[in-house]
Amino acid sequence: GSRVRTRHLQLAKERGEKWAMLTSYDQYTAQIFDEAGIAVLLVGDSAANNVFGYESTLPVTVEEMLPLVRAVVGATKRALIVGDLPFGTYEESPEVALRTAVRFMKEARCHAVKLEGFRPAQIQMITGAGIPVMAHLGFTPQSEHQLGGYRVQGRGDDAAATLLHQAREVVAAGAFAVVLEMVPGDVAKQVTAEIGVPTVGIGAGPDTDAQVLVWQDMAGLRPASAGPTPRFVKKYADLHSVLARAAAEFAADVHDGAFPTADHTF
Ligand code: KIV
Ligand code: NA
Repeated sequence: GSRVRTRHLQLAKERGEKWAMLTSYDQYTAQIFDEAGIAVLLVGDSAANNVFGYESTLPVTVEEMLPLVRAVVGATKRALIVGDLPFGTYEESPEVALRTAVRFMKEARCHAVKLEGFRPAQIQMITGAGIPVMAHLGFTPQSEHQLGGYRVQGRGDDAAATLLHQAREVVAAGAFAVVLEMVPGDVAKQVTAEIGVPTVGIGAGPDTDAQVLVWQDMAGLRPASAGPTPRFVKKYADLHSVLARAAAEFAADVHDGAFPTADHTF
């Protein structure tokens, strides 16, 4: 079959069909999620935390992101692949933003880019060059120091009105979808009803057009030492204990001489 396109996501909204997005940063998860029918894969800058082990998303670079994006694109057949623009690579001007977006499209061959915050001029410049842009409003992790940590955004009438205004403006600038992160459910519902493009919720309740989770959170790979799992996450597997058990059994078998046997020997 052919790739999911932004117009398919638009049609899904018009039909009231919900779809799922997951992060992916490597070939095997990308292939598994693609074959499982995940419509959109985000090579998130959350690779900073989930691949590189940084404490926030701020340090990750374009040079670190591009090989991950390339791996995910190369391992998939159906999913639309979105590359997440790192902190510091698009804020300064629309021209700088376009240059970074073009690198993602040319060097990693993804199908769209995502950027955080209320940046209609950047979105207009990038979409003007023929590159689909996913916007990201509400809690935006690259601004965590300004936002005062991981906190719900858009709470209260003024903040909700501002969020709705920003969502309308990023859509007017050309965004094909809007991620809403850690936004009250009633506010996400209102934004979803009032903008013409799909909303993708994370910690934004059940009424967005789509849902996204970080795959390691979804599959329970995250070690306890990474801190408490956010309340908005549902764990669909316990990969952490599966892998921990496998590694411990391997080590015990080696120690006991139970592995390798004649079966594993040339
Ligand atoms: O980088 C990321 O994982 C994200 C999603 C959670 C939306 O931006
Ligand atoms: Na991100």
